[in-house]
Amino acid sequence: MTPKKITLLVKYLKSLNKSVSWKELEIEIENLSIEIKDILNYLEDPLNLPYGRKLVFKSSLIECLIMTWSIEKACLPHDHGISEGAIYVVNGQGKNSIFNFSNKQSNQRELINTFLNKGDFIYVPKGIIHLMQSLGDDRLVTLHFYSPAIHDMKVFDTKNNRQGIVSDDCGAWWPEVPEKLLREEKIDEKFLNIPNKIL
Ligand SMILES: [Fe+2]
Repeated sequence: MTPKKITLLVKYLKSLNKSVSWKELEIEIENLSIEIKDILNYLEDPLNLPYGRKLVFKSSLIECLIMTWSIEKACLPHDHGISEGAIYVVNGQGKNSIFNFSNKQSNQRELINTFLNKGDFIYVPKGIIHLMQSLGDDRLVTLHFYSPAIHDMKVFDTKNNRQGIVSDDCGAWWPEVPEKLLREEKIDEKFLNIPNKIL
């Protein structure tokens, strides 16, 4: 049986037909006040990956997933392809690291770290390159929204000097099976200094 709060969330997402107001979505999410106990059967064991990934809802306009994070592993730096999005922290603590390349005069990039706590809702503009990781022992669980549904996501594997477009059902890591790697490229020079994990 689908938990009540997920049913209400899906009903809201289905009601969106033209565009997404991130402010309205934030209010909706805050009103629902989803907690880990409401989504126990949506928690995917991350196994040896940075997070377990569970699809809640997908239309051409919006996609919603629940991510259950590994205690140790950060995801790879990545963009969100054609999408903008938002993240809501259901449980635990984490860190979001954004790489800002807007200084076109040089290859220097600015690193902006934001700490994530239970109840935070953050907007992620299109084109942002970021990585996330869990902090502490309490299980980090996050709700992710992408509009339109995620497509053409690029991951940057700086340790192995490669970047690639992954399939729409792959998370932010180097694909575990070749079918999920749609295109591999040599890494752009400006990404060479991106660490795989931010300490
Ligand atoms: Fe992301």
